[in-house]
Amino acid sequence: MSTVVLPGSFDPFTRGHLDLARRAADLAGRVVIAVSHNPSKRNLLDLETRCAVISEVLEAEALADRVQARPLPSGLLVDFCRELGARAVVRGLRSQVDLAYEEPMARMNAHLAEVDTMFLLTDASLAHISSSLVREVAALGGDVDDMLPVASARALRAALADREQDD
Ligand code: PNS
Repeated sequence: MSTVVLPGSFDPFTRGHLDLARRAADLAGRVVIAVSHNPSKRNLLDLETRCAVISEVLEAEALADRVQARPLPSGLLVDFCRELGARAVVRGLRSQVDLAYEEPMARMNAHLAEVDTMFLLTDASLAHISSSLVREVAALGGDVDDMLPVASARALRAALADREQDD
């Protein structure tokens, strides 16, 4: 069994992310979902909520024994991989646009610490789902429930309702 790290913002955690986590667990044995906090991004869901939502989804999907959500500490992803004894990062690819974004990061991580990146092609039925589009559609009143695990959809609705109250 080996450990791989699935990093990202997960704002919100989608059915596409869940599919990746499950497939990575089937391949590697253990997956740590590393939830990033990027102060320059204005996240809709705060870090604690994103971690709690993912943990709830993993429990509901009977994946919690093989997949855990952890906040990604500030600093390099490769240092977090080293701390966990993980030799690989997993990322999903929906399209060539994703590959163009991912390739330099994957090469840099390999250079920095010999951490490989394993790319999994997103299932075609989920390839239109991105957290940013889900946020946009939901903020404009669209129905995103079938793109999100139940706990994610609930957290997104609550965050949007809070934001409306603040505006
Ligand atoms: O889902 P995202 O927001 O595109 O994920 C980006 C992420 C978290 C994978 C990337 O920002 C990252 O690896 N951050 C950790 C800091 C780091 O190691 N930066 C150098 C990457 S080459």
